[in-house]
This record gives sequence, C-alpha cells and structure tokens, in this order.
Amino acid sequence: MTITDTNFPTETIELLAGMESIAVLTGAGISAESGVATFRDKDGLWSRFNPAELASMDGFLANPQLVWDWYQYRRGIIDSVQPNPGHRALAEMEELFPRFTLSTQNVDRLHQSAGSRKVLELHGNIIDNFCVDCRKSFEFPTGDVEKIPRCECGGLIRPSVVWFGEMLPEEVLRASDMAARQAQVYFSIGTSAEVFPAAQLPLIAQSHGAVLVEINPHETQLSSVADFSLRMPAGEALPVLVERIKHVRASAG
Ligand code: APR
Repeated sequence: MTITDTNFPTETIELLAGMESIAVLTGAGISAESGVATFRDKDGLWSRFNPAELASMDGFLANPQLVWDWYQYRRGIIDSVQPNPGHRALAEMEELFPRFTLSTQNVDRLHQSAGSRKVLELHGNIIDNFCVDCRKSFEFPTGDVEKIPRCECGGLIRPSVVWFGEMLPEEVLRASDMAARQAQVYFSIGTSAEVFPAAQLPLIAQSHGAVLVEINPHETQLSSVADFSLRMPAGEALPVLVERIKHVRASAG
C-alpha cells in the first residue's frame, strides 16, 4: 500500500503502537532535509563525483590528496548542518519500543547528534580516521588538516568510512542482521536500497515475518515488495508517526 499523505490509517498506527520490536535502516535520504546531499538523487554526489576515484582504496592510493580533500569538503558540510525532524523522531522512537535497533548507511553521525543512543554504523563514520599501515586511529579538527597527514609509522591516514569493495564491520552487520530477523516492523528510510549487503536487511526482515515500511519520496526497488510505502520525506512522515503512536498509547491508558 502506497500512502502519500500523513493521514495514516488509524489501524496502521494501532498496529505499530502495539509492537515491541522495531528495526530501522536509514540511508542518505534521512539527512537530505538537513542539507546533506544524497548519492543517487539527480543532484546527488555521484552525479558530480566519481565514486571509484573517491570512495575506494584504489582511488585513494592513486591520489591520496584528492580523496583527503574530498572528505575534508564533506566534513565541512556535515560540520555546518544540524539533525532534522526525521533524525529527532527516530531518537524519540528508540524510547517508545522495548526493542529498537537503528542501522544506518550514513557516516554523518546526525542520528547521534539528534539523540539516538544506539546506532549501528554499517559504513563507518566520516569523523574518525586511521593509518592504512598500522591502523592506529586519529581524530582531527575538520578544517585544520589541509595536507593529507601521515602516521608516525609513515603510513597514510584515511577516513574511517567503508569504501566500495571493502568489508562492512562484522559485529555491526551481525547485529543489524539479527535485529532484522527479530523485527516485527522494519523501516527502510531514505535509501535507494541498491547497495548490498545493507540493502538485504529489509528483505531479511520481511522474510522473517516483519511488516516492511518504506519511507521515501521516490519509488525504489523495494517499493514493490514493501507492505507500506510512505511516499514522502522522512522529516514529514516520522514526526507524525511518533505523535500518532504516542496518542494511541495515551488514549489506550
Ligand atoms: N526523505 C526520505 N528519503 C529521501 C529524502 C527525504 N527527505 N530525500 C531523498 N530521499 C531518498 C531518495 O529518493 C533516494 O532513494 O533517499 C535515497 C537516497 O539514496 P542514495 O543516494 O542511493 O543513498 P543511500 O541509499 O544511502 O546509498 C547507500 O551507497 O554510495 C554508497 O556508501 C554510500 O551509504 C551509501 C550507500
């Protein structure tokens, strides 16, 4: 069922309000309303930059300074933006359900800034860095490091983001997979659902009995299998969903 406005059917809200175990996968779309570009929208990052050059180890080794500059550019943007009502609604949802797991493909840490306490970062984060040789970790104030830094061991320092062709953090993926298998409702929010293994999580959830809810203003390859497709921005849908759930629970006493 595709829903195009926030007059969510009461029975859907009542179904949700009665649930115990919720899992969520977010993508770049949940940060779009904060002013952070997505990747595959028509004006997205991959329409202006080449992912192979900028988000792969080969690209990094071929031109470390270019990749460092690109991540400094993205860090500068992320430093200048705030979480939006969608991020904040998910932080509130975490308190409404006994079992709530948020897995994100995003590296911007806006979920954490919005108050989400437990965030599974499937693709790492853009804040931390590590040495490609000895893997020592480093944190830098965003703007202060123009020239790509080197570790005292001589190795190049790179952002702690999972690049194309790299393995996702095993523990994080395992926890996200487990949450998908145990979810009664699984939300896929702001993701084109094109990049695996993250894109498998909503399908794993649904195959284990979860109601699959997609929140995305545009259709994705998940839309045809989702039980509910909320065809609207996350910053519009999520705050209303949270308020309606709280209202149903308050009137149930
Ligand atoms: N609310 C919800 N969804 C939105 C909004 C919004 N306000 N604005 C855009 N979207 C949707 C777009 O319609 C699109 O389907 O967000 C989705 C973003 O898709 P992508 O740009 O492909 O981003 P994502 O799915 O997170 O990409 C996955 O690919 O490049 C890699 O590692 C990178 O984590 C990223 C992964």
